[in-house]
Amino acid sequence: MTTPEISALHVGRRDAREGFQRSLESFKRKVGAFGVRVKILGIVLAMTVVVGIVVIWQARAVMGDVLVNELDHRGMAMAGELAAEAAVPILADDNEAIAGLMGNAISDHPDAIYAIVVGPDASVLASIFGDEIQADQVPDVHPGDDLIAIRHVDFETAAGSIHEFRAPILDGFGGSVRLGLSELRMERATTGVTRHVIITTLLVGLSGVVAASALTWLLTRPIVDLAHTTREIGGGDLDARATHLADDEIGTIGVAFNQMATDLKGNQETLAKSEIVRKRLLEQLIDAQEAERRRIARELHDTVGQALSSLMVGMAALSQSSADEVVIAKRMELQKLAEETLDQVRQMSRELRPSALDDLGLAAALELYSADFGILHPHVTVDLHVDLPRRLPSSIETNLYRIVQEGMTNAGRHSTADRLSVLLSERDGLVRAIIEDDGEGFDHVAVRKAARSVGIHGMQERAELVGGKLTIESGHHGTTVFVEVPR
Ligand SMILES: Nc1ncnc2c1ncn2[C@@H]1O[C@H](COP(=O)(O)OP(=O)(O)OP(=O)(O)O)[C@@H](O)[C@H]1O
Ligand SMILES: [Mg+2]
Repeated sequence: MTTPEISALHVGRRDAREGFQRSLESFKRKVGAFGVRVKILGIVLAMTVVVGIVVIWQARAVMGDVLVNELDHRGMAMAGELAAEAAVPILADDNEAIAGLMGNAISDHPDAIYAIVVGPDASVLASIFGDEIQADQVPDVHPGDDLIAIRHVDFETAAGSIHEFRAPILDGFGGSVRLGLSELRMERATTGVTRHVIITTLLVGLSGVVAASALTWLLTRPIVDLAHTTREIGGGDLDARATHLADDEIGTIGVAFNQMATDLKGNQETLAKSEIVRKRLLEQLIDAQEAERRRIARELHDTVGQALSSLMVGMAALSQSSADEVVIAKRMELQKLAEETLDQVRQMSRELRPSALDDLGLAAALELYSADFGILHPHVTVDLHVDLPRRLPSSIETNLYRIVQEGMTNAGRHSTADRLSVLLSERDGLVRAIIEDDGEGFDHVAVRKAARSVGIHGMQERAELVGGKLTIESGHHGTTVFVEVPR
């Protein structure tokens, strides 16, 4: 074989192998799509049909062999006996007696359908035919035919297979007896047995199907129950449990599953408890932080602010007591510095905790914050709309203020936006805040995943603390932060 022929052979074999594997996979997929019950019933039915066919085929073959053998033996013996009995009437030339003898043989033996006695010259001396056959269906014998030896001839007729047995009379000097036996009765017996086997196979198959149905029902019931329970637990019902039906392998799975569900419930409860504790701690932390900010803001305002105010008043009084131009110029310079420092202190105090938030509410505090924001970020135009018909609970006001503050600070620091719009409204018991900038946007999913984003994370925490939720949308045209809090 040449090299290209060998490689073509290899490619052909590989293609055949791959084709076979593909067909096998597709067969497995198709079979796998059926339920366990259908599969088991299918196997039982297929096995019953195969066993039935094999049993019928074997029974027919064995019975056929045995019966044909038995027919052959019987035919030989009968033909021999008839030849012996026919010797006397032959010698007496009594054809009537010969015919009587043949008639008796046919009526006595159910398989015998004809008997013919031929003389040594092949002439018919006597012939008897049963109802199943006519004389012209039987082959003729001719003067040259061997009538001395015992012979067995088979031939087919409309009445089925015929076995003819020839036995010589007086060693052939008296002629020969031809006895025809039919397979008809034997075939009827075989058909009867076949029918019995078919009925038995059907009954066995039926019982097999019933038994397999009951068995698969017993086997699949706990699995179906387990699947149902799994769905219930998946849907949030942690009290759902699999029914314990038996102590077998599937029952063991059910017990393990129930244990797992119990553990899961325990873990969920522990988790829920620690979540409550975490929230409470966070609340306390935020409250403490706000209280501390409030204290420092007041302290800044009341001590440093007051001291600076007094300083300015003192310096104003000083200017009247001295006409020295150098002193006046220095005093004005110091007074300006004190004024600026006082402004910064006030701004710091407001940033820490605007007293307006406690005294006048969220809207006023945000107005003040926007004004300060404008000074810090002069390139950003802030558009603030607050539509709150009444004051909100203090915790909601504080948290919303901090969220908006962080949102605006982020927009000012990171977005390169020109415009910043802040909207607050209350409708149907829901307070909504929208902080929208037209900046360059950012990948908020990645930022939120990376636990570093304290600001955004804090906004989220604060929204959840007051039972609300925060969503961020960001793209090339800017960022929008939505907050929704139930009142
Ligand atoms: N409006 C925005 N536009 C563009 N990028 C933003 C915006 N808001 C947040 N980001 C991006 O998300 C990051 C995380 O924001 P986050 O507020 O959590 O942290 P930060 O502002 O960097 O620091 P801080 O803890 O002081 O708030 C920012 O560093 C910035 O890159
Ligand atoms: Mg930030």
